[in-house]
Amino acid sequence: MANSGTQDCVSTSASSQRTSFQYADGAEAILYDIFQREDFDEQHAWMEYNWWPLSYHLSPARANIISWLPTVRSGINVLEVGAGCGAITSYLCRVPTVRRIVAVEGAPQRAELIRLRCRHASHLEVVTANIEDYEPTEPFDVILLIGVLEYAGRYIARPDAAAHLIRLLCRWLQPDGRLIIAIENPIGHKYLAGYREDHYGVPYESVSGYPDYNGIRTFDKGLLQSKLQDAGLHHQLWFYPFPDYKMPEVILAERSFSEPGFDWLTLLNLPTVDYSLRQRPLFNEREFLRMVARNAPPSAFMNSFLVIASRQPMPQAWESILAVKVRSQCAPSFRQTKFFLKESDRILVETARGDWLNRPAPVHSHSDISEPYYQHLKNIEHLFIDSLWHKRYAEAASALLRWYATLLSHVASEGYYHYNEQFNAFCTQRMGRLAYTPGNQWLPPDSLDLTPRNCLLNEATGEVTLIDLEWNIGVPLPLDLVVDRGMLYLMQKVSDFFGTDPLNRRGEWNLPRVLLNRLPAQLRKGKVADIHLFEYWFQLAILHGDFDYCLSEQDRRAAATSAGLSRRSWFARLLRRLGDASRSPGMVGATLRRLRRITGV
Ligand SMILES: C[S@@+](CC[C@H](N)C(=O)[O-])C[C@H]1O[C@@H](n2cnc3c(N)ncnc32)[C@H](O)[C@@H]1O
Repeated sequence: MANSGTQDCVSTSASSQRTSFQYADGAEAILYDIFQREDFDEQHAWMEYNWWPLSYHLSPARANIISWLPTVRSGINVLEVGAGCGAITSYLCRVPTVRRIVAVEGAPQRAELIRLRCRHASHLEVVTANIEDYEPTEPFDVILLIGVLEYAGRYIARPDAAAHLIRLLCRWLQPDGRLIIAIENPIGHKYLAGYREDHYGVPYESVSGYPDYNGIRTFDKGLLQSKLQDAGLHHQLWFYPFPDYKMPEVILAERSFSEPGFDWLTLLNLPTVDYSLRQRPLFNEREFLRMVARNAPPSAFMNSFLVIASRQPMPQAWESILAVKVRSQCAPSFRQTKFFLKESDRILVETARGDWLNRPAPVHSHSDISEPYYQHLKNIEHLFIDSLWHKRYAEAASALLRWYATLLSHVASEGYYHYNEQFNAFCTQRMGRLAYTPGNQWLPPDSLDLTPRNCLLNEATGEVTLIDLEWNIGVPLPLDLVVDRGMLYLMQKVSDFFGTDPLNRRGEWNLPRVLLNRLPAQLRKGKVADIHLFEYWFQLAILHGDFDYCLSEQDRRAAATSAGLSRRSWFARLLRRLGDASRSPGMVGATLRRLRRITGV
């Protein structure tokens, strides 16, 4: 039975008897229909669904937790414990350096799903068993426990079941083999800020030491560290996936917290997003983490852990990694992995474009772009939100005006008539109508991402440095569009932090009047219908990997009705649109309609 109130919405058997291993989250029957399709496509299937349990099993972001790890050598064998419905297994099957995979899953229905999902992988063996009963035939180079250790007390009837499981797995490792564990932190900042515990659906359950303990529990850093030490795994690399280990966007290394000049906090897209529950934190997580960092390493309070543990020292290449940022919820050609690396005395940012899998994985040499890391500069979006938070409206306005001035400084010196024509043709063809017309000030085609988030301000000199201007749709852009897009993204952040709607009753951006009064007209009010239409098209184009993507009539209607919604609900609509049953006839359509009935989405 699914319980949509929790992220790990499981129903588990209360019994630990080996014959009745039960674990389900309600998505299994639908996954069976999906995997059974002849044309099941691992790269694209996830786009069709917007229901957390299905996204959890299908999204390419699930593999972000390990996809960036440097491969040490080829021909490795991997044991995946508690492989679930194959989200990580299916990724492993495509990694060229993996020779053999054994996926052990206790729930028979789930093991069957992995077999179906990965039916083309001849080097995968799926074993239906409680891990306690599995007998390996050879030692492993890598053993994975992704979201599984917390269930040890549920399925392994031993005192300190988690420690027992770690010791057991340790015996199956090669001498230089690695145990990789991903798990939530019971005192992560999201839990401290009142988010419901992922397995219990109750706030403060883990923070209070699990008063309703039912065999499932996570471990704080100190506790997990000592369990690994006790098992002889003295060499440990600690990483901190954000917002969590399930779909991490950013993974911070321990070293990131102590590296002078490295601003790890700016990499976290706070507040913590909660995929299934739409919760908001009870406090400002950025202020909290900033305060913690002044007093101690903040690692003890990060939302989740990724630990790589071994009996032997690990390759030095890993030590240069400060952080990794992965974008994978888009077409494979638009995916990217960004490494923040410490090399001798400098920090570098290296970006690998495309599907990381299809490249050799060493960290240093195969990136497409290498850029310097800018130290001591402030991201204008964060500056704005922080000033707003402390009601320093003059500072907030001044940050925004710096961004606006930067946009103006990139405007083409003359308003060329043919730019208008080019842009109008572009919009008409893809979006079915004109947008931002007439436009008489123009920005270069690569300015689309010139948002406050991508502008770094030197507060001493007022100079602005641009980063991450990665999208170029091939046409010059009206200044109004880039302004409105920047404001739309900024107002999304404002509504995440303050719980407000993006627009006020006058149709202006919903900011305090005292702040609005300090802004030029172009920043106070946007062409809401146009920017929603454009952004709707743009997000679909990214998902489809095609800037020639054309909106359907239905898309255009959805974009029109979404104007004025908060970006969060707007985005939900967009995702809902992607999962619309009417576009998926046959088996998938039927499945989706059934899903709709169950979930009411
Ligand atoms: C939260 S799910 C994670 C699944 C998968 N690792 C993933 O990340 O998608 C936990 C899975 O571990 C399995 N599991 C938990 N304890 C197990 C045990 N002792 N032996 C075998 N499987 C186990 C459960 O049946 C469930 O499918």
